[in-house]
Amino acid sequence: MPDTLKGLMETVSMSVDVSNIKKINRVSIPDLAGRKSGDPIVSLTAYTAPMAKILDPHCDFLLVGDSLGMVLYGMDSTLGVSLDMMINHGLAVVRGSKKACVIVDMPFGTYQESPEKAYRNCVRVMAETGCGAVKIEGGREMAETVNFLVERGVPVMGHVGLKPQSFNVAGGYRAHGRDQVEAERIKDDALAISNAGAFSIVIEGVIEDLAAEITHKIKAVTIGIGASAQCDGQILVTEDAIGMFSEFTPKFVKRFSETGDEIGRAAAEYAKEVKARTFPADAHCYHNK
Ligand code: KIV
Repeated sequence: MPDTLKGLMETVSMSVDVSNIKKINRVSIPDLAGRKSGDPIVSLTAYTAPMAKILDPHCDFLLVGDSLGMVLYGMDSTLGVSLDMMINHGLAVVRGSKKACVIVDMPFGTYQESPEKAYRNCVRVMAETGCGAVKIEGGREMAETVNFLVERGVPVMGHVGLKPQSFNVAGGYRAHGRDQVEAERIKDDALAISNAGAFSIVIEGVIEDLAAEITHKIKAVTIGIGASAQCDGQILVTEDAIGMFSEFTPKFVKRFSETGDEIGRAAAEYAKEVKARTFPADAHCYHNK
């Protein structure tokens, strides 16, 4: 082994804290990888322990997405999300769940510089959260890094098509793959990441025919978000799907509930009862025994 790599592995193993890793019978990476053309994989995002607990029985994996920057922290994009934020929320989701595989997004700037830097940061995320895999955005330019990580025991999920961390380069959020050149590039990206060893790839915001072609062509299981039911599984940002985030709602989002409205109604009822002094009632008060 070259000295530089040996040094890197020694540094990483010195800083690894495995005390948070609970051995539980979760959905494993081979379970997910084996679902090619099988039962569709069900997944949602989760950022907190209570939400993870609610979603866990229904999902094969929970993604701690860097979308938390926009959804939880009110940022304009995902670019300001830090590694520490992902680790804190990743740990909460692992604690709150027991069945689903937990996958954590690597934030902008933590994996693009070099395979070694990516490895160091991914090891921190896996060791400090106990998650099962990490997700990174990118295509051919990330293939060497994906291979480096997978060869050293870090399971990787890729992300192609609309890549939110590259929205400045792409000129905003829009459907991808309508023109032939772009479609070929996305296909090559997916193939490169799959061949490099990613067990799964999120395909975001691409036209249906392209998502279907990629799904049939590559070994990795595909997870669609705005990429049609032809993918091997689906993911949505939970807050989009339950009406808790309405700053920006892409065409591919379906609202399965209006939880935001329901919370608003509960808060209004609470305010009314506080003002009328009907809450707290006698049942909510302590008295001398
Ligand atoms: O950050 C995120 O939530 C994601 C999903 C949209 C796939 O990457």
